[in-house]
Amino acid sequence: MALSSANLTLYCLLCLLISLASSHPVYERFLRCLSIHSPPSTNFSQLIYLPNTGSYSSLLRSSIQNLRFASPTIPKPLLILEPADESQIQASVICCRNHSLPMRVRSGGHDYEGLSYRSDHDSRFILLDLTRLRSISVDTEHGVAWVQSGATLGELYYRIAEKSSYHGFPAGICPTVCVGGHLSGGGLGPLIRKYGLAADNVLDATLVDVNGRLLDRESMGEDLFWAIRGGGGASFGIIVSWKVRLVPVPPTFTIFTLHRTLEQGAIELLNKWQYVAHKLHEDLYLKVDIQHVEGGENGVVAVFESLFLGGCAELLQHIGKSFPELEVKRNDCREMTWIQSALYFAGYHSEVPMEILLDRSLQPKEFNKGKSDYAREPIPLSGWEGIWRRFLEQGAGSMVMVPYGGRMGEILEAEIPFPHRQGNLFSIQYLVRWNDSGASASEKHLAWVRRTYRYMSPYVSKHPRAAYLNYRDLDLGKNEEGNTSYLMAKVWGRKYFKNNFKRLAIVKGEVDPEDFFWSEQSIPPLVVDKERRSGQIGFKDLISKPKPLIKHFL
Ligand SMILES: Cc1cc2nc3c(=O)[nH]c(=O)nc-3n(C[C@H](O)[C@H](O)[C@H](O)COP(=O)(O)OP(=O)(O)OC[C@H]3O[C@@H](n4cnc5c(N)ncnc54)[C@H](O)[C@@H]3O)c2cc1C
Ligand SMILES: *[C@@H]1O[C@H](CO)[C@@H](O)[C@H](O)[C@H]1NC(C)=O
Ligand SMILES: *[C@@H]1O[C@H](CO)[C@@H](O)[C@H](O)[C@H]1NC(C)=O
Ligand SMILES: *[C@@H]1O[C@H](CO)[C@@H](O)[C@H](O)[C@H]1NC(C)=O
Ligand SMILES: *[C@@H]1O[C@H](CO)[C@@H](O)[C@H](O)[C@H]1NC(C)=O
Repeated sequence: MALSSANLTLYCLLCLLISLASSHPVYERFLRCLSIHSPPSTNFSQLIYLPNTGSYSSLLRSSIQNLRFASPTIPKPLLILEPADESQIQASVICCRNHSLPMRVRSGGHDYEGLSYRSDHDSRFILLDLTRLRSISVDTEHGVAWVQSGATLGELYYRIAEKSSYHGFPAGICPTVCVGGHLSGGGLGPLIRKYGLAADNVLDATLVDVNGRLLDRESMGEDLFWAIRGGGGASFGIIVSWKVRLVPVPPTFTIFTLHRTLEQGAIELLNKWQYVAHKLHEDLYLKVDIQHVEGGENGVVAVFESLFLGGCAELLQHIGKSFPELEVKRNDCREMTWIQSALYFAGYHSEVPMEILLDRSLQPKEFNKGKSDYAREPIPLSGWEGIWRRFLEQGAGSMVMVPYGGRMGEILEAEIPFPHRQGNLFSIQYLVRWNDSGASASEKHLAWVRRTYRYMSPYVSKHPRAAYLNYRDLDLGKNEEGNTSYLMAKVWGRKYFKNNFKRLAIVKGEVDPEDFFWSEQSIPPLVVDKERRSGQIGFKDLISKPKPLIKHFL
């Protein structure tokens, strides 16, 4: 076959890369495989990033959101691939699989345990980074949008608001979080009580499966389409894009933020909040954080933050009726549009230009550790007092409590893999962030968040003690020896997914029986024949077979 001159140039670029990489034959064979399976238009110097180059390091670091996983001791990918289109993803999957090279996929890198770009288990792996795949097309006429996985929530919100002031999308508050991880893990934000999760509003998706096929909802089938809406994308394939349902938003939203100290009755207010917040009108979202503020008397405050789909007068009526003790006043209200509320919740003044939502480097890089819980019963006053004491002792950390109820109580537990629906009063996120890279700072903060989690055990959900996948927590899979074991999938699986875990494992067994898409908390494949599917399969089936050790090519 004659090579055109353009192809020849590209081929030579590839030769150059191969010669750079000639330190090891795997590079050569893997890169040759990529060149065979990629479309002729591929610019390999934009697809492949080799270690020990500046562009590799800056790309790797670009979306490491948790500095705990940026240190030099954390194993780095053998190569980074930054595909520009679906066909390059297909080629990447085919060649990684062919060369038994494990793969991690990263959209925005916000995973709390860094699982999108690091591996505890595999000394050699390939990182597929989707930052280049971030197109968004908004169709206001049909009230839908197609958005690629590498787009941020900020970009999605911006593109919707640019076209329409009557549409919005219910998802998280952090503008740099990407659609890829967020939608595949659930996705919750201030519209949760009105419209549910981001994943509840997914209508279609395109995905590259383990065989390198590009599938959509119809061709992947309803089981796989179910699994990727809350079951975590990383277990099932590479999700390229999502079709989402836009939701109607009114022209005016009202927001207030109120700080209450111990002296101002914070404990009594928290106590009352847990009885009312989940029962409020679905247009009204009232969350509360316990956190530290700089320069305060003793530093700890309860921060009540509200979003209402409507004007201030109506909001005051609702609160006055259900929660007069909070003493919300007319001038606590700020009326604004939906997109301004997105800026506000992201921590900006609602008057800043909305272009700030397009800045992918907004989030300050810090060390952090998060954990999560669900409260199904009110916490007694003594419990709240103990929580408060723990904050006074520590001088850092926060506890973010998001009310459920409303739309969240109407969606069935098995509708999508995310199971935390009716019967939950609120979710809790324990989060500690710090800037000091020293080991003792890290130990202190990790110990605090784990201690606080232990303290909370009598007050939160049991059997299982539930957790939210998007606040990923590797502690959940630790055994008594304190090590993370694949055999503990049963433990974290039930916490994240409750009864949906089994169906996820069956879907995994159908679409990826050899467990190519493996990570420390990926769904284990449960391979069953069709007749047994309706029969009894105990969870012990899931844990009987540890992951076969991947034989590395090197
Ligand atoms: C600062 C901050 C604020 C947050 N705020 C919220 C919030 O308001 N609400 C909320 O619900 N959550 C929130 N989260 C959690 C966030 O939703 C999850 O961490 C989410 O998974 C991040 O998605 P990502 O693409 O940015 O992360 P990544 O780290 O890139 O991905 C997370 C996981 O998804 C997998 N994945 C990513 N892309 C794909 C893909 N295309 N196909 C298959 N698998 C994929 C990764 O392999 C990894 O396992 C926040 C997190 C942070 C750090
Ligand atoms: C390929 O990408 C490199 C690096 O971005 C660029 O310098 C080069 O011009 C591109 N080549 C072609 C043919 O587009
Ligand atoms: C890899 O590709 C070669 C050539 O196409 C094929 O013969 C081989 O079976 C493949 N191996 C795997 C593990 O897919
Ligand atoms: C860490 O430092 C950044 C930049 O100075 C700052 O914005 C942030 O608030 C600090 N975070 C903590 C937890 O101290
Ligand atoms: C993890 O714990 C198991 C016991 O459950 C033990 O057999 C194994 O050696 C431990 N692994 C490591 C790396 O410590």
